[in-house]
Amino acid sequence: MNIGVLGAGQLGRMLALAGYPLANRFTFLDTTGHPSAGIGDVTVYTDQHHLDDFLAKVDLVTYEFEHLPVALVQAIEEVRPVYPSSEAIRVCQNRAEEKALFDRLGIPTPAYRLVEHADELEAAARELGCPVVAKSVTEGYDGKGQAVLRDPADAADAWRAIGHPRLIVEAFVDFVREVSIIAVRGRDGEVVFYPMAENQHVDGILRYSLAPMPDLDDSVQQTADGYIRALLDELDYVGVLTLELFQCADGSLLANEMAPRVHNSGHWTMDGAVTSQFENHLRAIQGLPLGDTAARMPTCMVNVIGQEGDPAAILAIGDAHLHRYDKSERPGRKLGHVNLVASTHEALMERVRACAALLPEAPEPRFSFE
Ligand SMILES: Nc1ncnc2c1ncn2[C@@H]1O[C@H](COP(=O)(O)OP(=O)(O)OP(=O)(O)O)[C@@H](O)[C@H]1O
Ligand SMILES: [Mg+2]
Repeated sequence: MNIGVLGAGQLGRMLALAGYPLANRFTFLDTTGHPSAGIGDVTVYTDQHHLDDFLAKVDLVTYEFEHLPVALVQAIEEVRPVYPSSEAIRVCQNRAEEKALFDRLGIPTPAYRLVEHADELEAAARELGCPVVAKSVTEGYDGKGQAVLRDPADAADAWRAIGHPRLIVEAFVDFVREVSIIAVRGRDGEVVFYPMAENQHVDGILRYSLAPMPDLDDSVQQTADGYIRALLDELDYVGVLTLELFQCADGSLLANEMAPRVHNSGHWTMDGAVTSQFENHLRAIQGLPLGDTAARMPTCMVNVIGQEGDPAAILAIGDAHLHRYDKSERPGRKLGHVNLVASTHEALMERVRACAALLPEAPEPRFSFE
């Protein structure tokens, strides 16, 4: 089966790496002009001919990037099966749609308001109580298009800095930790769930993901499973879906956002789970049985950002698995990740610290269980 992937970055690259053993071939459609997958057959999309070419080669279409024109995905859907559907893209690329869906399904979120003017932003900040986070409704990633307001008087500056016609303003959550749940839904409606991961972000960029969490209550995992199942069923979803959540001091969860694709907080599954998120996404979209999502051992994913460090030194750490994306160094750019595996969480944290010490821009790892 030739799988068409919309987007041609590292997520597409890792999908392809997982798909070759299943005898899949990959054709990427890049809409940015900067494909980095470095694998498969890449078409840079600038006009209809490129799209026709791409569609002629592929049996079905998936994506690694949700900030795509919905009309483009709908047009593709007329010609080839698209999993997950354009409806999932439409909802997940817009924070207002996403929050409305969470509300409709009874999934708790931080209190929020939608605003279309600096004065409305100021009023929302006053109503919700500062600090608040203002985010552009569309196009955000890695914390871009966001500002934290410490005072309603910051509204005019924040409005200008974000420079977007429509913002969502959220109460700032005093969370104990950030977590995510990844689940996979097959074409027949079967759903499997990965153990939740604890995620450490710095300046809006994910730095570490660890799973399974040694101190996670079963009931919390079940609550998250319930939330994501409701989303999967509502969207009649096929493939991997990720839900980012905040966990509060009383154990409760608030939904932050979702991503209709394989996710950075699931990269640990490549070396730490029986079946990786990438393989399971490919199984799902092809109507194949879903693989076991259990963790084999405590695993931590360390993002390699900005500078590569010394790959040989990283590989000298026990049970370290380096995944490089074949990209050039640039501040803040995701260049790769390291998966570290160990038989106990204590031994794992030793490896994580050893790895962080080898990465010039890695912040100090901090997990709530320590
Ligand atoms: N309401 C909030 N309260 C506290 N922290 C927040 C809130 N919203 C966002 N953050 C912080 O900012 C980070 C990035 O926010 P969010 O996930 O909304 O943005 P993004 O740019 O879409 O990120 P991603 O890279 O996951 O796509 C969060 O992981 C969290 O650390
Ligand atoms: Mg996020």
